[in-house]
Amino acid sequence: MPRLGSPAPSFEAVTTFGKIRLEDFRGGWLVLFSHPADFTPVCTTEFLAFAAIAPELRKRNVELLGLSIDSPTSHIAWVRNIKDKFGIDIPFPIIADSNKEVAMLYGMLMPGESKTETSRCVFVIDPAGIIRAMIYYPLTTGRNTDEIIRVIDALQTTDKYGVATPANWKLGDKVIVPPPSTVEEAEARMKAGFECADWYFCKKTV
Ligand code: BEZ
Repeated sequence: MPRLGSPAPSFEAVTTFGKIRLEDFRGGWLVLFSHPADFTPVCTTEFLAFAAIAPELRKRNVELLGLSIDSPTSHIAWVRNIKDKFGIDIPFPIIADSNKEVAMLYGMLMPGESKTETSRCVFVIDPAGIIRAMIYYPLTTGRNTDEIIRVIDALQTTDKYGVATPANWKLGDKVIVPPPSTVEEAEARMKAGFECADWYFCKKTV
């Protein structure tokens, strides 16, 4: 089962872009996401939304990889239908996980919701192949792609500056200075020019 901070389970899968292995994404960020089924309305809105953010994600060195347990033929027909009805190309591969292998590895099937469809799961995997975020949505709730970009911005800011990010943080907002671990550090930080409400709660601009 996937765990935050642990290596993402390895796989090789059939996709709309040919065979793909998890390791093919090493060195860049990956958003692996599952959807319940092709040719369904909420999923179609999500694919349009993911296609729309693909250029923003590329700027951040992030690739998208979709998944459902539909067949390759179904995926191809749906992608063609999206192009035909909405004029949008789906610029990322979709795993045809017909034997549920990847879905089982990642715990994407939630039997309480559906025994035959993957739930709306999002796994953010970093360039070293570590799972950095997991977000789960129910079958009936379409995802917020702004939130997915926000989480990636937060993780990349954390990695770059060694900081944390507060509630509702957005790129450009002040960040949280990690709490001090000694009395001496606590004292020093009050004089360091940060914006501090107290010794444990300091923000700064990066
Ligand atoms: C949909 O994508 O519209 C959908 C899929 C599964 C359950 C409910 C809605």
